[in-house]
Amino acid sequence: MSNSQKVENVLNGLGKTGIIPVVVLNNAGNARPLGRALMEGGLPAAEVTFRTDAAEESIRILSEEYPEMLVGAGTVLTVDQVDRAVGAGAKFIVSPGFDPEIVKYCLSKDIPVCPGTQTPSEMIAAMKLGIDHLKFFPAEQSGGLQMIKAVTAALTGVKIMPTGGINADNASDYLKSDKVFCVGGSWMVKSSFINAGDFETIRKKTEEAAAIVKMARA
Ligand code: 3PG
Repeated sequence: MSNSQKVENVLNGLGKTGIIPVVVLNNAGNARPLGRALMEGGLPAAEVTFRTDAAEESIRILSEEYPEMLVGAGTVLTVDQVDRAVGAGAKFIVSPGFDPEIVKYCLSKDIPVCPGTQTPSEMIAAMKLGIDHLKFFPAEQSGGLQMIKAVTAALTGVKIMPTGGINADNASDYLKSDKVFCVGGSWMVKSSFINAGDFETIRKKTEEAAAIVKMARA
């Protein structure tokens, strides 16, 4: 399989999953039960944010324990974090903003990357580097679906991953847009659930989220 095919497969996998749980893990010991809850709930993907010291180890545990899971790294702000994330098994990189250095680095290594963009100018700059799957962050606060529809009417080639302020009530509207390839959200994997060890709630909310994807695309 060519490298570009591998990148495409990952992006397709994100699209197929539909809702990507955005996770903050303070303790890598929670990675395994979290992974189980996501797998059983029907969302076999996770964006593990580099906001804690446990991120790298959590990515390693999730990737090893659940090889069929699409595990990526979020809140990636440096090239060093890209290396650490991919070394631990991350299959994709997400960033809250658009940093050409990170995007170029990922492209040079055939690592799927979704940089955060908010304006047409940022999207155009990202597209110029050769990518068309872009995160829109923070989605709700930046104009939500109306903004996505307005911008993509002009930038017809882009596919958007809105993240920020998305929840069980509004995810479906986003997913119904053909400009949206997946959404990111933390509502099913809130830190309060993880830190309390309440993986049953995570499993249930993940199951509900997976049902939202199914219904939105029916
Ligand atoms: C984040 O950066 O935490 C993600 O964008 C998730 O946002 P959310 O917590 O509003 O879902």
